[in-house]
Amino acid sequence: MYNFYINPKNKKGHINPELQGHFSEHLGRCIYEGLYVGENSDIPNVNGMRKDVVEALRELKLPVLRWPGGCFADEYHWRDGVGPKEIRKKMINTHWGGVLEDNSFGTNEFMELTEQIGCKRYINGNMGSGTVQEMSEWVEYMTFDGVSPMADMRKANGHEKPWKVDFFGVGNENWGCGGNMTPEFYGNNYRRYQTFVRNYDPKNPIFKIACGPNGNEYEWTDVVLETCFRKAQEREHGFMDGLSLHYYTVPGDEWEHKGSATQFDEKEWYKTLSKTLFMEELISRHTQIMDKHDKDHKIGLIVDEWGTWYDVEPGTNPGFLYQQNTVRDALVAGINLNIFNKHCDRVRMANIAQLINVLQAVILTDGDKMIKTPTYHVFNMYKAHQNGTLLDSHIETDCIGLEDKYMVPNLNESVSLGEDGKIHVTLTNLSAKDAYDIRTVLTDTPVKEVKGEIVTGKMNAHNTFDAPETVKVQAFDDVKANGNELCFAIPACSVLHLTLTV
Ligand code: AHR
Repeated sequence: MYNFYINPKNKKGHINPELQGHFSEHLGRCIYEGLYVGENSDIPNVNGMRKDVVEALRELKLPVLRWPGGCFADEYHWRDGVGPKEIRKKMINTHWGGVLEDNSFGTNEFMELTEQIGCKRYINGNMGSGTVQEMSEWVEYMTFDGVSPMADMRKANGHEKPWKVDFFGVGNENWGCGGNMTPEFYGNNYRRYQTFVRNYDPKNPIFKIACGPNGNEYEWTDVVLETCFRKAQEREHGFMDGLSLHYYTVPGDEWEHKGSATQFDEKEWYKTLSKTLFMEELISRHTQIMDKHDKDHKIGLIVDEWGTWYDVEPGTNPGFLYQQNTVRDALVAGINLNIFNKHCDRVRMANIAQLINVLQAVILTDGDKMIKTPTYHVFNMYKAHQNGTLLDSHIETDCIGLEDKYMVPNLNESVSLGEDGKIHVTLTNLSAKDAYDIRTVLTDTPVKEVKGEIVTGKMNAHNTFDAPETVKVQAFDDVKANGNELCFAIPACSVLHLTLTV
């Protein structure tokens, strides 16, 4: 029996909906085929956007979408993707499969897509191979309301009114694919580029995000914050509102052997989950460095790339990063989202990589068919936390696993008071075999009603186009409530969501 304590009186912070954000890059079949099929496609679409996909994303209450990359962002020239489609410049997507990019999905199309989904926009600018002028004019094109060369171009391209840009990233992975810069070089350039990311609408200032570290490269965080934030204290937010962090769960120890998405044993199950839990340490240690420069928590940590990265599905283009998604991915999603909730005082946004057909996708498509992955179902349960208030909670755990190096706590949780006035508990069971009895105690708070739902199955269970509902959200009714105590058993390999009316 494991005791699980929740203190509804101890409120710990606001859970931004953006902690459940997504990322869509011009990579493989994410944008083309996945989201955008063009107006003339036989696949049902509205202005080129797949109806089935948009509907599924609306159901998730998808809060924010990052675009156009990734590594692609630092070689993307926005002017190639606006204006009449027949004359848009074509390019080779050198990062991702060397395929032809015809630029038929560009700025106006991204704005249309996000309007259909009903989500915020996170645009990632090109610092690696683009100019300050180019970045500045893109912001003018998107957000300037009035007469100006770029606003006039937007109007000529069919959009009279400016759009709202919520978040803007100045470069991506500039320590690597975005230009192989040192933190000093990046920091100084960031200061310059961001100057020209103008706030044309002062009532809706753009949240500016500086490129953050690769995983545990703590020096990058320190130097960039020193250069771009601490030395700029005369401005309310320094020169930045957020710093990104990228960390992927890669089971294999060599890049050439990352591991299969579906064929793995128990050892690899625990190794994957153990590597996922490293996110906790990363956030804590980067937060410590951020606290040194920014004790008032003005800057957000933006985990804008996270998720599993396996070997591609056999027979698919290695540059397209197409992988299946199992109950193991459901656990990875549940654990990460719980970690983000617990750090909501510093983590303001997180974007899983990537939305469709790439890496840990929530949706996979094949022609006109679409399936929801186990990861989709976890996001669908966790949406109850969006805009909630994190509550103090603690669960007793044991250490489990098969190898000393990759032991994990058997349980992982977070709890919020939702916008609906109910308490939302999300709990993951990391054991590949064992169910656990849980005794939940809510301090001074009797529970009137409990509703449960769960994503569970064999560790490598997954959905296919022939069997799309092998893994789905199921009702979980077996909870005994008595006053302020709840007793239930959580099955192995599962992500559970309980809604408590108190
Ligand atoms: O998500 C795939 C790639 O991973 C992104 O383009 C890049 O930013 C990261 O290395």
